[in-house]
Amino acid sequence: MIDEAVTDFEAVHGGRPTGVWAAPGRVNLIGEHTDYNDGFVLPVALPHTTRVTARRREDGRLRLYSAQGEGTITDLPLDALAPGAVASWAGYPAGVFWALAEAGHAVGGADLYIDSDVPAGAGLSSSAALECATAAALNDLYGLGLSAPELALTAQRAENAFVGVPCGAMDQMASACCTSGAALFLDTRTMAQRHVPLDLEAVGLRLLVIDTRVKHDLGDGAYAALRAGCERAARLLGLPALRDLAPTELAAALDRLPGELGPLVRHVVTENRRVIETVDHLARGEITALGPILTAGHASLREDYRVSCPETDAAVEAAVAAGALGARMTGGGFGGSVIALVETASLATVSEAVRTAFRSAGFASPVVFTAVPSAGARRVA
Ligand code: GLA
Repeated sequence: MIDEAVTDFEAVHGGRPTGVWAAPGRVNLIGEHTDYNDGFVLPVALPHTTRVTARRREDGRLRLYSAQGEGTITDLPLDALAPGAVASWAGYPAGVFWALAEAGHAVGGADLYIDSDVPAGAGLSSSAALECATAAALNDLYGLGLSAPELALTAQRAENAFVGVPCGAMDQMASACCTSGAALFLDTRTMAQRHVPLDLEAVGLRLLVIDTRVKHDLGDGAYAALRAGCERAARLLGLPALRDLAPTELAAALDRLPGELGPLVRHVVTENRRVIETVDHLARGEITALGPILTAGHASLREDYRVSCPETDAAVEAAVAAGALGARMTGGGFGGSVIALVETASLATVSEAVRTAFRSAGFASPVVFTAVPSAGARRVA
């Protein structure tokens, strides 16, 4: 894979690259739509990565080529980069250059060859993987000395301000900071993080990922509207963020809020609680206890937050009915992927039950795979 990346770079850009950097996609175990409410999340990195093969340029140009793109080089002068100026996938790496420069880092041009096996539009953070692999490459090429969380926050800034998606920090922090064999317990207020060991195979379990193949798009306004709703609710309650509302104060808060905001607040408060409960169970080695928490999380996303869709609901329902310990959609929603916690012995049964449910509902056939908690962004050559 690495040799191929070098050969492909040479074919497109000519000459040798300096190195190859990789950053993974992620699934989130629990803690959905909490990251822009200063709350808690618990993602794990996927084995799937985006690789950036790169070399510096001294002429202030950024030349980008993606193996998944249109077969042409996107050539951008760095001094012309501005928010909204670069459409398509190229906006993500270009945004990282822009965000680094804007933060005062001495970053110059580069040739990039990009290749990825993170499914795009599947709620598995292919954009964060691309941003973080680019950030890791530039960090080394230009000797910036930034830490993994600093790279993640730069990548988030690129997505917020350059691409224009008001996402929280979870995906970039997961892609930059996860370690293999662990979930990342992250407090998105302080960015304090803890790596929580998660060896599912040792206890006879697997994490099944079901990509429903319903493309999700966080840029279409629905995500921004949800975020704005949460911020409005916090303002009305006189709180810095919904993270500051304790579960015991929820009922009284709901009485004070306009009807349309209540369910959003209930989801965020109960979801933060579910993250803490999950981490507590993991600390006690009670992994099977996660199942019902995952399924309760999905019900909250379906009923209160309303970001599920018929395909994600069907996948959760079929997986649980076929014996999964628990299942939920993961990521922003409006399509995307579902995770299920499954006993190794029932992996085939659960996978087949989901495929059958999709077939009989007339849905496109899902892509189903198992995932082990993998490493965050790193130099691979
Ligand atoms: C997307 C965003 C994240 C987070 C999730 C929902 O993946 O990029 O910041 O808000 O949705 O949990």
